Amino acid sequence: MEKGTFLLVSIMIIFALAPVYIKAQGERIVRLEDLDITKITQGWGKPQKNLSVDGNPITINEKKFDRGVGTHATSRMIIDLKGGAKSFSAYVGMDDEIKKEKGSVSFRVYADEKKVFDSDVMKKGDTAKEAKADLTGANFLYLIVTAGGDGINFDHADWADAVIVMDEKSDAMPEAIDQPKKEKYILSPGERGAPRINCPDVIGAGENKDFLYYIPIVGRRPLDVAVFNLPNGLIYDSESNSIKGKTSSKGDCTITVTAKNKFGEDKKSFDLRVGAALSQTPPMGWNSWNCWGCAVDENKIKAAADAMAASGLINHGWSYINIDDCWQGKRDETTKKINSNEKFPDMKELADYIHSKGLKFGVYTDSGTKTCGGYEGSKGFEKIDALRYAEWGVDYVKCDWCNTEGMEPEPAYTIMGEAIKECRRDIVFSICNWGHKNPWEWGAKVGGNLWRTTGDIVDTWESMSKIGFSQARLAQYAQPGHWNDPDMLVIGKVGWGPNLRDSRLTPDEQYTHISLWCLLSSPLLLGCDLTQLDNFTLNLITNDEVLAINQDKLGKQAQCLINENDIQVWVKNLADGSKAVGIFDAADRDILLDDGIEFKLRWEDIKLTGKQNVRDVWKQHELGEWRDAITVKIPEHGVKLLKVTPVL
Ligand code: GAL
Repeated sequence: MEKGTFLLVSIMIIFALAPVYIKAQGERIVRLEDLDITKITQGWGKPQKNLSVDGNPITINEKKFDRGVGTHATSRMIIDLKGGAKSFSAYVGMDDEIKKEKGSVSFRVYADEKKVFDSDVMKKGDTAKEAKADLTGANFLYLIVTAGGDGINFDHADWADAVIVMDEKSDAMPEAIDQPKKEKYILSPGERGAPRINCPDVIGAGENKDFLYYIPIVGRRPLDVAVFNLPNGLIYDSESNSIKGKTSSKGDCTITVTAKNKFGEDKKSFDLRVGAALSQTPPMGWNSWNCWGCAVDENKIKAAADAMAASGLINHGWSYINIDDCWQGKRDETTKKINSNEKFPDMKELADYIHSKGLKFGVYTDSGTKTCGGYEGSKGFEKIDALRYAEWGVDYVKCDWCNTEGMEPEPAYTIMGEAIKECRRDIVFSICNWGHKNPWEWGAKVGGNLWRTTGDIVDTWESMSKIGFSQARLAQYAQPGHWNDPDMLVIGKVGWGPNLRDSRLTPDEQYTHISLWCLLSSPLLLGCDLTQLDNFTLNLITNDEVLAINQDKLGKQAQCLINENDIQVWVKNLADGSKAVGIFDAADRDILLDDGIEFKLRWEDIKLTGKQNVRDVWKQHELGEWRDAITVKIPEHGVKLLKVTPVL
């Protein structure tokens, strides 16, 4: 063969073999953005194909990428590799679209339980890092974006040019899958038929103000109820099962209630503190915001009241039905009285309806010119508004802090606090300025019964755990009549608008949420649709021993006494000399564990000595006497809630 011919033939052979050669290298590529990215869970916004989370071209430190997935911390994508995956690669970094130089994330890749890539903390402006990971033999690929240790704000994160390389011998197609669903399991034993009276040990009432108190009692109906030692001016009305009237007998009066049915009887005494602050124990009720947002209307409020009564929640102590933002209409031109809008045709009739069920009625306003939803605020009209609320029959006012430019919170809330105090009704005053200028330091002084300590909660582990576990420094400010408020509950069906969905908290996270809020002596405001309570949710909010921890008359907020390898132990001293102890798994884990975590709690670490009697509060079940310590198993992101009583 001639030299030239040989070269030509060789080139032809190389070209003919080339596809074979590439095939043999297994270069079948699956692009991340072609998988079902709606399966990604993330802390904010929605995952985007070939764009950043805000919908801009993916850009990391001025380098543009045509393809990839834009997400937001904390984010988790799980991919079933279906066998035959060889490797994963991507360029990762924070997107340039964040204007402020804030936020940080880290990207982690796991092949099954093995971490195969960790970007370490990355900030805006960092050049994209190449993530390369061997996937040989792996069944699942996990792509994780953490919050980088400083919360999720501004954490726009990109997986740019992200591909899974498959073995060409396999024709498997990787598939993005749902996050593992954990079973909803019920711990509370439920009602036993015999009566249990659920009044708190202490109730506050205004001197000479209208008093209405439905007596919460669980147990099979009919019940035979009697009330003893009522002060002058108050009567027990058996038809509505309520104590009613007006009293001027200032000071404490011990009232006794007895209840009987064919299964047994119960007796309970409580102190009525006439002239003391309202909400001597944290208020319990429902608020429209976390389910309906601005899609609230009169029918939804009436339905919530109906459901609170019909579901039996009322007999566990739940009592307020509160409308949040978006009920306001225009002020009367001459009197300046506030009117409700067309969705609330008659506020007085609505208040009467709620009261007729034995429940209490709350409304929302704002210290500024307009509410957060853009409705009429109370600035300059505080007295007129408070009187208007009283005229309707309002029992609770939440006062927000939007549109308050140039205003100082303490004087502003003083004006509203005084206006409320002057009404002839008992009205609980809820300060909602998200912790701005430390309301815990002046909230009680201005008449606040509760004050928000943080921004708004949402139904994610990041939000709930961050808010709940950050309350320790405020413990000293909680006291009967005045409570730190870490925001409303995000269990059940929520949605902040017309469309509702199940809370994104896992069942164990929901046990954590309720247990922690009870230990913190937090106000308990349900945020879910009460007409759609499933068994799990109902059991979460009707365990009387759990609720009794929240309602304990000492009014102490739990302290975090142990924080060890992400296990946190919170301890609340109770009036009977025992301690409520919550042992929580507070870890931000990349991959969920199947099994729980064992933890040995030593009595000396929670300031106890000697033998202790231990009760599992969720199960309402005795665990016996333990000398120096007890070992328990905590589910992932879950809790063991114990009542520990010294054995004398
Ligand atoms: C927020 C407040 C929420 C809700 C909302 C209504 O400022 O924290 O709880 O009331 O306004 O617009």
